[in-house]
Amino acid sequence: MHIDSRDPWWRHAVCYQVYVRSFADSDGDGVGDIRGITQRLPYLADLGVDAVWVTPFYPSPQRDHGYDVADYRDVDPLFGTLADVDALLSRAHELDVRVIVDVVPNHTSADHPWFQEALAATPGDPVRDRYVFRDGTGPDGQEPPNNWPSIFGGPAWSRVADGQWYLHLFDPGQPDLNWWNADVGDEFASVLAFWLDRGVDGFRIDVAHGLFKPADLPPREAHHRLPAPMWDQPEVHEVYRRWHKLLEQYDGDRMAVGEAWTASAESMARYIRPDELQQTFNFAWLEADWSADAFRAVVEDTLAAVGLVGASATWVLANHDVVREATRYGGGATGLARARAAALTMMALPGSAYLYQGQELGLEQVEVPAEARQDPSWFRTGEVGRDGCRVPLPWSGTSTPYGFGPGEGQPWLPMPEGWGDLTVEAQSGDPASTLSFFRELLRTRREVTPGLPDAVEVLDAEPDTLALRRGDLVCVVNCGSRPRRLPAEAGAIVLSSGAAPTHGELAPDTAAWFRLA
Ligand code: NOJ
Repeated sequence: MHIDSRDPWWRHAVCYQVYVRSFADSDGDGVGDIRGITQRLPYLADLGVDAVWVTPFYPSPQRDHGYDVADYRDVDPLFGTLADVDALLSRAHELDVRVIVDVVPNHTSADHPWFQEALAATPGDPVRDRYVFRDGTGPDGQEPPNNWPSIFGGPAWSRVADGQWYLHLFDPGQPDLNWWNADVGDEFASVLAFWLDRGVDGFRIDVAHGLFKPADLPPREAHHRLPAPMWDQPEVHEVYRRWHKLLEQYDGDRMAVGEAWTASAESMARYIRPDELQQTFNFAWLEADWSADAFRAVVEDTLAAVGLVGASATWVLANHDVVREATRYGGGATGLARARAAALTMMALPGSAYLYQGQELGLEQVEVPAEARQDPSWFRTGEVGRDGCRVPLPWSGTSTPYGFGPGEGQPWLPMPEGWGDLTVEAQSGDPASTLSFFRELLRTRREVTPGLPDAVEVLDAEPDTLALRRGDLVCVVNCGSRPRRLPAEAGAIVLSSGAAPTHGELAPDTAAWFRLA
C-alpha cells in the first residue's frame, strides 16, 4: 500500500504528547495549563508535528493527575476554561496541527456525581450498578470480593460505610465503571459527541483494554503475566464498534487511539480491525531493550499483526507512565545517543509515531526527592513511581522554573539544577543539539517518506545491527559496542542520529538513513 493524499491524516502522523501539568504554565501557579499550550503551539508547529495529544484537563480532584475525572464535559479551573480549549483548538487548526484529547472510560473520579449518588444509595439500588459494588467474603464480609490487585498497589477493592466493597483497578479515588450497565455506554457516546462537536480531531482512550470485567469476577490466577480476568474481554470490542460509527458521522477523519496493554501483537491488532479503533499504541518498542534483535522482533511482529487486520502501525518510545528512554538505554551520553538512534529508526517505519514532551530535548528521568513525589502509586507501594518522567519542561534560562512559567519558585514537581543546557532556548541555537536533530528528523521524514511503501524488508546486516529497507529508504541502527560495516544496499546518507558514517562503517549507538540511487 502506498501513502497517498487520500490517506487519513493520522495514518502517517507524528503526534506529540502534551502532559498538561508539565508542558507550559501561563499563569505562574506552578502547574501547566491550556493557555500555556496555546502559547507554545508555534514551537510544536515549528518542530514539525502533525498532531498533539493533550492529557486530561477535566475537573478532577487530581488524585491521579486528571485520570480521575469528576466531570467529562468541562475544564478544571487549574487548567483553564472551556473557552481556553476552544481557543487552543482554533489556534492549532490555524497552524495545521490536529488535537487529540484523552477520554477516561474505565473509571471515574470518586467525586463524580454518579459515584456520589451510588454512595448515598443502599446496596442493590440501581444507581450502584453503574459501578462494580459487591458484598465481601469471609466472616461479616470483611474480606474483599476477590483477590484482584490494584495497579497502584494493594487490593483493588475498598469498603464503604454500609459494608459493601467497590472495585478500583487503580487508586481508590478511581472507581471502575460497570460497562454491563447501559447508562455507561450511552454516557460515553454522549461525552465523545460533546468534544467532537467542539472540534477535537480524535481521542486517546485510557485503559482501552479494561472497561468490561467478567460479571462473575473470577479470581486472578497467580501464574498469569497480566492479571488476565480484568483485561481484554471480548465485549470491549462492541464499544469500539459503536465509537467507530460515531466518529464516522463527523468530517475530517476523526480518530481514536487506544491505550491497550495486551499480551501480544495479535491481541493489540484486534482493537484496530476495520470497524473498531483507528490506532492502538504499540508498546512493544517501549518495552524492548537496546538490542538489534529485540528491535527486529518488534518491527516484524508489529507489521505482521497490523497486516492481519489491514491496519497501520504506531511506534512509541516514551510516555508519562514509563522511565524516559534516554535513561532506560543507559543514561548519560550513551543513553542519549541511543535514544536519538531509536527515534530515527522508528521514524523510518510505516505508520504513525508518538513523541512524548521532552523527548525532543533528550531529557532523562529525574530523581524526584521522596518528599516531593506525587504519583498515587508511590503512596500505595513506596516504589518510586512515575514522577521522574513528568517534571516540567525547561524552556529557557539557567535556573528553575526554566521559563516553564512566570513564577519564581519550584513548579508542582521540582526541576533539577543544571538543566540550563537542555532548555528549548539553549538547544535552539545549537545545530548539534537533540532539539535540532528532532527538527531535522521531522522535516526529513515529511520530505522523504511520502510515497514510500508500507512494506519493510529486513536486510542482511552485521551482528548487533538492524538494517531495514522501505522502498528506496534504508535505515541502519548499530546497537553494538564497535563500528559495523553498512550493508551493501545502503545508498547515499540522508541523516544520521550521531556521527556520520565513515569508510562504510556506522558508529556504535547510532542510526542513519540512506537513500538508494
Ligand atoms: C493510564 C494512564 O496513562 C495513567 O497515567 C493512569 O494512571 C492510568 N491509565 C489510570 O487512568
